[in-house]
Amino acid sequence: MRSPKDFFRPLAVGAPEPVRQIPFRPSRMIHFFDPGNEKMAAKVPGMVPKTDVLLGNLEDAVAADRKEAARDGLVRIARTTDFGDTQLWTRINSLDSPWALDDLLTLVTEIGDKLDVIMVPKVEGPEDIHYVDRLLAQLEARAGSTKPLLVHAILETASGVARVEEIAMASPRMQGISLGPADLAASRRMKTTRVGGGHPGYLVRTDPVGEDIEHGRTTYQQDLWHYTVARMVDACVAAGILPYYGPFGDIRDTVACEDQFRNAYLLGCVGAWSLHPVQIAIAKKVFSPDPAEVAWARRVIAAMGDGTGAVMLDGKMQDDATVKQCHVVAELADELAKRDPDLAEAYDEATKEALA
Ligand code: GLV
Ligand code: MG
Repeated sequence: MRSPKDFFRPLAVGAPEPVRQIPFRPSRMIHFFDPGNEKMAAKVPGMVPKTDVLLGNLEDAVAADRKEAARDGLVRIARTTDFGDTQLWTRINSLDSPWALDDLLTLVTEIGDKLDVIMVPKVEGPEDIHYVDRLLAQLEARAGSTKPLLVHAILETASGVARVEEIAMASPRMQGISLGPADLAASRRMKTTRVGGGHPGYLVRTDPVGEDIEHGRTTYQQDLWHYTVARMVDACVAAGILPYYGPFGDIRDTVACEDQFRNAYLLGCVGAWSLHPVQIAIAKKVFSPDPAEVAWARRVIAAMGDGTGAVMLDGKMQDDATVKQCHVVAELADELAKRDPDLAEAYDEATKEALA
């Protein structure tokens, strides 16, 4: 077992010191773009003010003969775009592919200072993170980087889910984990061909009334991803890193996308991927607490004074635990308000009304 005192030592001479805390930066939507696609690349500057995270995708959905063009395109975009306080992430190719090594060599040495997070797909276990961790340290030392790159793992193999806690704790670079429902379904041999979301076949049914087993029984669709998302959230929170829902592939079904994102939000996720501009607004809506909820949280915090004891508010019991729940919502609202003046105003208006 590794000694705790070595955990925050750079893994290469000359590499920057590992971070001790993962900074919370709004990342409600991780918007994917193909940096090798000229049309998409041209839209990037216009997307900067609309998104929390822009991710240059090099992996799946980029054809094998476009991998180099995507990598070169990302270098160009990173060098020529002002991202302000919007984060720039990338998803590299999987570690067993012919491209991953050159992805890391090129990106860290050419644009390591512009990138915030490197997303690593198809992570099987902590050994994959250890490999990336050491290689990044070597490359950062070579590039003279002053801040360490953070690493984000996609949870999309059965082995990864079985070892998600070890993955979350594998390195101080670990920033977060996203659910990858498409690859995960394939890896587990699940029988869904959808990218995320529910499935009408996954249901429970009420008991029969009398002898008729066919009719009069209500069915309830269940969430295929509940177990995995819940387990991922626990692993991430225990490690002090951030959990995310991944892709929702049915772009036209904005209603079901919103439902799936909201389930993830309620369970503790801080954001989701967006694969099309229409999903940016959905993620923004879902992963920003509702103004009425924020107003209620602030009201509970104000009523609870030093946070101990119990009070009744509108017939609802409040105590040390509920004030902590309210702090989660209020603190998230404060962070998002710093980035989003419209949201700040909506939160303040709702709070004024609630406290009046
Ligand atoms: C994402 O990469 C997925 O496989 O769902
Ligand atoms: Mg995948």
